[in-house]
Parts: sequence; C-alpha cells; structure tokens
Amino acid sequence: MQPNIYAHRGASKQAPENTMAAFSLAYKQGADGIETDVHLTKDYIPVLIHDEHVKRTTNGTGYIKDYTFRDLQQLDAGSWFSPEFAGSRIISLDECLKWIYDKPLHLNIELKNNKIDYNRLERIVYDRISHYHLLHRTTLSTFNPISVSRLKHLNQYIGVALLTSKRYKNLVAAAEDLGANAIHIKYRLLNRLLVDQSRQKNLALRVYTVNKPKHMIRSFSMGCDGIFTDIPEMAVHYRNQFGDQPMK
Ligand code: G3P
Ligand code: MG
Repeated sequence: MQPNIYAHRGASKQAPENTMAAFSLAYKQGADGIETDVHLTKDYIPVLIHDEHVKRTTNGTGYIKDYTFRDLQQLDAGSWFSPEFAGSRIISLDECLKWIYDKPLHLNIELKNNKIDYNRLERIVYDRISHYHLLHRTTLSTFNPISVSRLKHLNQYIGVALLTSKRYKNLVAAAEDLGANAIHIKYRLLNRLLVDQSRQKNLALRVYTVNKPKHMIRSFSMGCDGIFTDIPEMAVHYRNQFGDQPMK
C-alpha cells in the first residue's frame, strides 16, 4: 500500500490554512486526504480553524467559543496570508463535508480539545460525519487522551488516532489501551521500532508535519501509512519517484 498524503490544513503553504482555497488547491495537487482542525462556536457549530483564538489567522480578535457562527463569518481569514485571498471565510465542518462528499478524498479531523475541552465535541462532530455518510473515510484525532477514549465509544467504523509530539515509554500500548486504531506522531518521533510495533498491532502510523524532501522520502521508505504536509504537490512528486516499487 502506498502511503497516503494528507494536506495539512489544506495546501497551507500556498493558501491560507483551513480555508476552502487551501482544500481545493490540495485536491487539485493530488492529495489523498485533507487534515483539518475543529473548534466549537458559542452556538455549537463545529468550525475549521487551528487556534482557539481568531487573532493569528483572521482580522478579528477573541476566542472561537465566544463567537456565534454568524459573527465568525464576518471575519476575513485570508488577508493575513496574502491580499489575493482577501474575503476567505472560516468555514463550518458541514461545508467541508459537503465539498468532500463527491470527491475521492480521505479526511482527518483533528479535534482541538486539548486546551479547551469543548462539551460534546466528539459526538457533535461524529454526527455530522455520519450525516454525510463519510465515516468510512474519516479519521478523528486529538492530542487529548481522554477524548480518544471517548471517541472509541462512538462506533467501530470511524478511525480514531492518538496524536502526540511527546515520547512515550510504549506509545503503541498506550494508543491501544485508549482504543485508538491509529497513531499520529510528530516527525522527530519516527523510528523503525515504532513502525514495526504499529504494524504488529494493526495500528496505522502517520507522521506530521513533513515538509522537507528528505523527510518525505524517509517517511515513505520506512513504511508509514501516511504523512501530513503543507506542500502536497511536493509529496506527490516524491512519492511518484518510488513508483509501484516496494519502498526500502
Ligand atoms: O494532525 C496533525 C497536526 O495537525 C497536529 O498538530 O498543531 O498542526 O494541528 P497541529
Ligand atoms: Mg492539526
């Protein structure tokens, strides 16, 4: 199996992260999947943005949790990146799911509940994915281990990944204990033993954020199941170089 290339926040090197423009570009560039981050508004609408606060990626200020979806829509989520993207909006999870529906894309929705543990976020997100019949090609991930175990109880059809940037004594055992069926690690944690252990336990192993050619090549050749990259175009290029040959 070829490793999957997930566009991290969309093609976020060339378009403002987590916007429709970044997702569309990733699709055009041949990404296999989209990785995006979700928070909850004051009126319980799941929205796609990385930070808890709107300051870095919009012209507004304040926390997502204090905005209604309607008010959030007034913010410009593109100008900070480049004037070319002025008028880009923060989109709802529903908008993304509608867009993905008729495309052969995988989806990784990262629940951003490690700083603010939004009430019922797992269930709300799960219900939206189920509504669009996208459970079978979606993985939910989070840095919050308690949330991983909550996700486990949703159902068996959806992928659940433990996300980590920290070293564990036995990461594979920890992920299994929580009920995850995938592990998403920071690139520096990647090693052969982890690849082998994950494979033995049937856990998918994906790596973020892989933007350098040599790191892409190493991830592919070690047999990772997927990478997250801001530059899907580059990752597709390097993966193609391997062709259908087994990667060594
Ligand atoms: O899901 C992988 C990666 O996105 C996790 O870190 O901070 O980029 O959301 P972050
Ligand atoms: Mg993320």
